[in-house]
Amino acid sequence: MPIVWREQMSVQNDLIDQDHRYLICLFNCLELALDRDDYLTLLPDFFQQLLDYTKSHFTREERIQLKMNYAKYMEHKQDHQSIIAEIEEINQKIQKCVNSSDPNIDFPVNADVLLLARKWVIDHILKADRDMIPLLKTLPRNFQG
Ligand SMILES: [Fe+2]
Ligand SMILES: [Fe+2]
Repeated sequence: MPIVWREQMSVQNDLIDQDHRYLICLFNCLELALDRDDYLTLLPDFFQQLLDYTKSHFTREERIQLKMNYAKYMEHKQDHQSIIAEIEEINQKIQKCVNSSDPNIDFPVNADVLLLARKWVIDHILKADRDMIPLLKTLPRNFQG
């Protein structure tokens, strides 16, 4: 089921919100791709996009956190690093799957992607990132760090 952006998901910062909207959009695209029979031809590019965009989003978010002296900066950065590690791990599985000469190769990629979506979007964007709200509320919405 697609994740639909709602105002309640806002962290009160335009740049971070915009990134989160785009990341949710990428996840919805991935989910749609997984429903197709030819998903293995689509997955590598979509997933690579997700990895690249997640990395650049984390860089922007951490820059904002540093500039506003966010107390949970280190803890939050570790969360980001573990998410990147998980995305990279799944990315490797996908590459292995795509490059395999065995047409019957079976990888639990779908389950991994959906589980990651839940963890990343629901747990991180909707929980951990929301801890920044009290501090972000004290700054202009267009604060970019
Ligand atoms: Fe974020
Ligand atoms: Fe974050």
